[in-house]
Amino acid sequence: MLISIPDVLTAEQVQRGRALLDRAQWVDGKVTAGHQSARAKDNMQLPEDSPEARELGQMIVGALHRNPLFITAALPLQVFPPLFNRYTGGQSFGNHVDNAIRQIPGTPHRIRTDLSATLFFTGPDEYDGGELLVEDTYGVHKVKLPAGHMVLYPSTSLHNVRPVTRGARICSFFWIQSMIRDDGERTLLFDLDAGIQQISATQPDHPAAVQLTAVYHNLLRRWSEM
Ligand code: NI
Repeated sequence: MLISIPDVLTAEQVQRGRALLDRAQWVDGKVTAGHQSARAKDNMQLPEDSPEARELGQMIVGALHRNPLFITAALPLQVFPPLFNRYTGGQSFGNHVDNAIRQIPGTPHRIRTDLSATLFFTGPDEYDGGELLVEDTYGVHKVKLPAGHMVLYPSTSLHNVRPVTRGARICSFFWIQSMIRDDGERTLLFDLDAGIQQISATQPDHPAAVQLTAVYHNLLRRWSEM
């Protein structure tokens, strides 16, 4: 399931982010690429230990944990500390799949990348090109969102970023290990949750609301891993 999550950050948070990102020291994006994706990757990135990346990363993770749509869609177990990239002057990222396992910098911990996230810091009118193209069995999805919005998609998907031919595309990107490893199971839980919320809003006393909520939790108990 590919899903857009609007307004993960407020306009003020985006503005604060842009100010920090404008004055940060950017380096060649190949530093965090795997062997195969390094060949396809042409962009700039903030070093993982840069103070700007750390401050903004904490702001993003805090915002995600307060976002109900993110929680129900991702069922997150662990969020990788957000990274930041910038594409200008024709830069692009060719088709690739993200590494399955990533070490959390400065720790012995690793996460399995179940979901990939891109959070936009620049708006669609600030650059040409730069669309994120994500392939799944239903075809290719083209993503270019307003600043502060985020897309979440299964890390199993092949994806690429089209060349940026004008302006700059600045985003945060990171991965999530979900309590539910399988995208199909996670999507079923998301759809079930949406149905429960509808019943609860329109007919809160309907006995089916309790029954379906029990099914939701019992599936979560059956499928989740921690
Ligand atoms: Ni990628």
